Amino acid sequence: MSKIISGFSKLTKKEKIDWLSKNYFSSQPEIVKTLKQYWNIDEKLQQLHDDFIENTISNFYMPYGVAPNFVINGKEYVIPMVVEESSVVAAASLVAKFWSTRGGFKTEVISTTKIGQVHFMYEGAEEDLQAYFNQQKPYLIAATASITKNMEKRGGGILAIELKNKTEKLANYYQLHVTFETKDSMGANFINSCLEVIANTFRRDDIEIVMSILSNYVPECLVRAEVSCTIDDFGGENPQKFAAKFCQAVHIAKIEPYRAVTHNKGIMNGVDAVVLATGNDFRAVEAGAHAYASKSGRYSSLTHCEIENNKFRFWIEIPLALGTVGGLTSLHPMAKLSLKMLQDPSAKELMQIIATAGLAQNFAALRALTTSGIQEGHMKMHLMNILNQLEATAEEKEIMVAYFEDKTVTHSAVVEKFNTLRK
Ligand code: MEV
Repeated sequence: MSKIISGFSKLTKKEKIDWLSKNYFSSQPEIVKTLKQYWNIDEKLQQLHDDFIENTISNFYMPYGVAPNFVINGKEYVIPMVVEESSVVAAASLVAKFWSTRGGFKTEVISTTKIGQVHFMYEGAEEDLQAYFNQQKPYLIAATASITKNMEKRGGGILAIELKNKTEKLANYYQLHVTFETKDSMGANFINSCLEVIANTFRRDDIEIVMSILSNYVPECLVRAEVSCTIDDFGGENPQKFAAKFCQAVHIAKIEPYRAVTHNKGIMNGVDAVVLATGNDFRAVEAGAHAYASKSGRYSSLTHCEIENNKFRFWIEIPLALGTVGGLTSLHPMAKLSLKMLQDPSAKELMQIIATAGLAQNFAALRALTTSGIQEGHMKMHLMNILNQLEATAEEKEIMVAYFEDKTVTHSAVVEKFNTLRK
């Protein structure tokens, strides 16, 4: 029997769960208990979360961790991270401490503008369209006045509107290409509202508006974070070899897309964790970062490395469209707390903090990969997940962690030792 349902969103939360349970979990009535276990006892807080999206039936927890000891442009930070992968916060903390005694992270915002486009079709002569655009341009800006008023007070707004001819790529296709400055807000709603008003004002019988939407490709909303030290500052047995191998790993990611994707995934482990913790849009950041990584036509590393005159320099350049006001940042209590923890950053400061988190994560991954390998540290952190899967007690966990202190953690080794222990 078909399970297609009309009016599902109109049902109460209880009715939705009943429907779900009856139609998809008929042999597992315990799912209702699981869903309810994750409801917040504070009804007001639960309602707030219910209202973020449609058809909310429960909450999905993610761990909220903190990585202390970050020094960015001489200022100390503890960075909040929301991530489920065992080793990410540990790696960030280790690397933050490491660089805190070697000058810390240096960061700079390179640019902050964002793009939105009105995509339309026009079959007539280009000169006529250009003349119409030139004549309309002041009206296009004027039509957005009520939306841009507050943003302009904060120093933002519409910076430019251009007509772009794209007919070589697609017959009859043109754009209004609009450049925005959105200051401390991510600006998606602001940009989209402006674009829709611009499109309506520009509309004419022979102009078919296809759509109006911001672009998540933000190569002009760019930040750089870097670390540097003399090679000897690395310490250890052979710092020259360490630095050279580390740089080789970055250079491999520059020319080899298979490696670059994993390399950048590691960067995004750090970036996304802070983006999530601060209530920002991680899908937008992901899409923009990977598009930027492909800007040369070949997918490549977001980080760079050089050794010159015995000096090691490692840096990231990444586009980040972020907000510290508006959206979830001002609604979600944990996002607000994260921003407080970061000492109420502006969007520009948050760009620098998040780029730093990405660079730190990449440093941790490459340091492990080019020395002991990634699994040693990763599996040590993953041990607790395996023990939880095995439903180990607190006492058993303690024994197992002590046992694996000086041994290689593998799934089978843990299960074997655990079974012996239980016997
Ligand atoms: C795992 O989540 C991330 C790494 O694979 C990143 C990398 O290989 O650089 C360790």
